[in-house]
Formats: sequence, structure tokens, C-alpha cells
Amino acid sequence: MSDLANSYGTPSYVYDQTRLNHNLSKLNSILKTYFEKYHICYAVKANSNPNLLKIMRSTLPDMGGDCSSPGEIYAAQRSGIKLRNCIYTGNYESISDLSSALKQKCYINLDDVTSFNRLLQVGLPEHISFRLNPGFGKGTFSQITTAGENAKFGIPAEKIVSAYRKAQDAGVIRFGLQCMAGSGNLDENYFIELLTAITHYTNQIESELNIQFEFISMGGGLGIPYHDEEISLNYDHLFSQLSQVFYKAYPEKTKAPALWVEPGKSIIGDAGFILASVTGTKSSYKNFIGIDAGMETLMRPALYGAFHRIYKVGEHGINAGTVDFTGPICENTDRIAVGREFPDVNEGDLVAIMDTGAYGYAMSHNFNTRPRAAEVLLDGDTHRLIRRRETVEDIFMGCDV
Ligand code: LLP
Repeated sequence: MSDLANSYGTPSYVYDQTRLNHNLSKLNSILKTYFEKYHICYAVKANSNPNLLKIMRSTLPDMGGDCSSPGEIYAAQRSGIKLRNCIYTGNYESISDLSSALKQKCYINLDDVTSFNRLLQVGLPEHISFRLNPGFGKGTFSQITTAGENAKFGIPAEKIVSAYRKAQDAGVIRFGLQCMAGSGNLDENYFIELLTAITHYTNQIESELNIQFEFISMGGGLGIPYHDEEISLNYDHLFSQLSQVFYKAYPEKTKAPALWVEPGKSIIGDAGFILASVTGTKSSYKNFIGIDAGMETLMRPALYGAFHRIYKVGEHGINAGTVDFTGPICENTDRIAVGREFPDVNEGDLVAIMDTGAYGYAMSHNFNTRPRAAEVLLDGDTHRLIRRRETVEDIFMGCDV
């Protein structure tokens, strides 16, 4: 750890190639076991570093990307992922975003029928899918629940048939359906309930419009344990149950649609951590440990109250009591952890903030004009820089003064 800190400085995001490959291969082999046809589109929004995407692509050459902006399409393309294997899911998509996805020949997944009207202004793709909001969803936090009455995403169940009818009337002949209802789920029953609802609607659309879906995407949402007491999903049990639900709706296996998944967190989440340095400690009305990674480096705790395990690097020594971890940001929401029992630390000690591979760097920002962290890859005993630390000059590169 000190070697990494000396080589690249802190804060740095550190990723483990072995873990990343393991996560991807495990999901792929379970899908292969239980589904005739399947496709994995890694959710590029979780972590778009092209070096990481390239590793995933070498492990799984047919892997596609779930892209939600022209920037994510660019990252996928830059890493060699075939864009015809990618799905573009925007929301409130601008005409220029739609046109970029169409030009790149990604599958286009539309958030609403009004998006289809905008798409028609730039062209008619061969395939269309719509994002279904089945009326319920589930996520670790309300903020990452992406379906249900309060969600801004997707088409409500009662309008879904008419959306496909509109596309069919306009001349689309190949169809898929997508539904992403929430992130960070460790409850197997939720996925069963979700796929049951999805296949209910796909069966209904198919019989009303006399179409056959080529794929059904369940989105992402597979959770990872962030707390010691949480238990990982049992993939074997989960996907065997999901295949029963799926093939009950599509008993003729060879004619069934392909099952698509768009995993983000479950692929890269536990393959990354942040290496940070203690910059100061303070006993105020509360006890604080200040580190050089604040909410600008990791937004999840400030944004959702998300929990990340933090470990002191090296000897643990005596317990210093209950502390809040904070960073250098001039904002009282700047917390990485609240009310944590932690060992005694000194300025310069290193800490590791765990499970930050997904939605860590990708959601980091420049508040207080703090440059973004470096990103480092571990491969066995070797390590290399996969994105250099941003500089203050980088931040102002677009300003002509
Ligand atoms: N597909 C679509 C269309 C999505 O919107 C998302 C995530 C995924 C796939 C990947 O979901 P995952 O497998 O990572 O759960 N920033 C939040 C997570 C928000 C997820 C939004 N959409 C967090 O830090 O927990």
C-alpha cells in the first residue's frame, strides 16, 4: 500500500484485475448454464475507464456496453467494444444524443414514446426497445430505485402496448424490451418478482401486436455486500429460478428471446478501493478524521448516506473511539463515514475505502477546484497507472483567459 501511495500519491482509486475478471466470468458462466441465449452489456456508467473496459472485453469478447450518453459510447468504442453489441438507454434524450446512438449503430432503448417521436426526426433504426416501468422497483436507497410511481424513468405498464404499436406502425420490425428497476439489490425474490412482471407484459405485447421479442433486458441491479453482515446473492440459485420464470413464459426455448443483463455494480464494485491519507484529526463536539478523499472523490456517502467499509492500513493499535470521516470540502455534507469505531491514526497514515469501484470515480467531481484522483490497476504483484491524476490546469483547460 505504501508502495502504491509513494508511486501514485493519494487519493487514488485502485482496481484489482483478478477480481474484475472473476466477477465477469462468474456471471457469464451462470448465464450460460441457465439460458439458451443471453447477452451481457456492462453498464459503462458505473466506471467508464477505457483500460478497465478493455480488460473486460478481452475476458468476454462479445460483451456489449449499456451506454447512457455519447461519452459512454465513446468510452466503449475506445476500448474496442463493438458498438453493435451495445445498448443506448438515455432518458429525456435530446435529438443530438439519439442521432449519435443511431449513427453508431447501437441498439436504441427509448425511455418514452415521445423519445420515439424525436428519434423519427433523425431516422428509423432496425431495432427498437422501450424501457418499461412496471409500477414498482427496488434499490438500496429511494434515490437509486429506478421504477415505480416516483421514478422519472420508463413507460408505465398501461401505456407500453401503445408505444410498441406506434413503433410497429412506423415500420420497425425488430423488437426488444428493457426494464431497469433499481440498483443494489441483494433480495433474490425481488428479481423473481421483476422478471415475472416483465414477462407478463412481453407476453401481452406479443399477443396483442403479433410481434416476437428478440431480447428482454432486466437491466442491472445485482447488489454487492457493502456491510460485513450482508450476504452475497447466490447466483446459481437466483439464475436457476429466473430461468424457470423465463421459460414458463417462453416454453419453446429455441424461439424464446435472449435474456440481456446490464450489470455495473456487481462487476466493478468490489474490484476497487480508494487509497487515501489521513490529513488531520480533530476532537470537536464530535471526533473527526480528515482524509484527502472527500465527497469530491466519493459522492455516495454524501448523496445517499451510503456505507463503505474503511480500513486502516498497517498496524491497528488502540481503538480511538467513534469518529466521522471527512474530506477537505467546504460543505458539511462532506462525509465518507459517520459514527464509525476506528483505531487511532496519525497524520500521514493510509486508509482504504472499500468497494468503491462502481459509481466512485465516475461520480467524482471538481468542487472546491479539487482535481480528480488517479486510477491504478493491480495485476497480481504488478501495478500501473490507468489514468493520471488530474491537475488544476486540466480543470481550467477550457477557459481562455
Ligand atoms: N442499466 C441501466 C439502464 C441503468 O440505469 C443502470 C444503473 C444499470 C444498468 C446498472 O445498474 P447496477 O448493476 O450498477 O445496479 N449511482 C448509484 C447507482 C445508480 C444506478 C443507475 N442506473 C450508486 O452509486 O449506487
